[in-house]
Amino acid sequence: MSRAACAPAAERNLLGLQGMGSARLRDLLTRARDYAGGGGVKPVLRGRTVANLFFEDSTRTRTSFSIAAKRLGAEVLEFGATTSSISKGETLIDTALNVEAMGVSALVVRARQSGAAHSVAGAVRCSVINAGDGRHEHPTQGLLDILTLAERFERLGTFDLTGLSVAIVGDAASSRVARSAIAGMGALGARLVCVGPPSMVPGSFESLGCRVERDLDSVLGRVDGVMTLRVQFERHGEGKEGEKKSPIIASLREYREMYAMTPERASRLKAGAVVMHPGPMNRGVEIDAAVADGPRSVILRQTRHGVYVRMAALAACVEGGA
Ligand code: NCD
Repeated sequence: MSRAACAPAAERNLLGLQGMGSARLRDLLTRARDYAGGGGVKPVLRGRTVANLFFEDSTRTRTSFSIAAKRLGAEVLEFGATTSSISKGETLIDTALNVEAMGVSALVVRARQSGAAHSVAGAVRCSVINAGDGRHEHPTQGLLDILTLAERFERLGTFDLTGLSVAIVGDAASSRVARSAIAGMGALGARLVCVGPPSMVPGSFESLGCRVERDLDSVLGRVDGVMTLRVQFERHGEGKEGEKKSPIIASLREYREMYAMTPERASRLKAGAVVMHPGPMNRGVEIDAAVADGPRSVILRQTRHGVYVRMAALAACVEGGA
């Protein structure tokens, strides 16, 4: 098929939520809601192959894409940084082109570099779904966050989030999750506020469509949801793998004092307000176990919704590319 004959990239690929119209957002969310409701699971990907190209570690995202693809009848191929020729210096684009040449319908791409999924999408003709690219976007995470909020606040009919206010707390500058959430939730009418120190929430974040605040305690009583972000130590440079040390935090104790989601802070939220976290969590750093496992937490609901959202994304993109 010639490039010109392909469906428009906006439908064949899912690269980000920034700039996505509310109609497409609602289409993806409605599909996910219907899958979550137990209806409408047809093997629309039977005879197709989906390749997971995960060049950065992942538990939830990778596994839920695999489960989603299999539920829709697809075969799944798994590639990782250490188990593919990336370890021999092959570029991401060459790997993607070769995997596509074997006849896959969709590439699910996770990579350290911001813009990686866009680059792959520019080189291949099959569908490309961004499963997290550097500090840029993580669109299926944004969708599962919206589905979780919409479920809790009874907005599953229209996904209109007008009147809801969400605080995104902590390491937003390093976070693709934050950028996708701001874009997606904002497009559906939610009010967003990013809360953190200037090194993690620069004032320039306002240009993404959110307010910026420094004082979490003054925000807590006004929001319907708090999305606590992981302190992404590995994205701050320096430090060894797995080490909880960062050049952008003077002291972890001080960070906790100002921004950690503690039981005391959770108790000051509005009745009905929820606590979210994309995972993986640093328990005892940005969130305490009593909150993560407590009554306001919808964290495992988010994880569960990941499967339905990824089914929706795969079905819609492969349909869009047909
Ligand atoms: C996030 C990611 O990888 O961007 N995790 C996820 O996909 N659930 C968030 C993070 O790494 O902190």
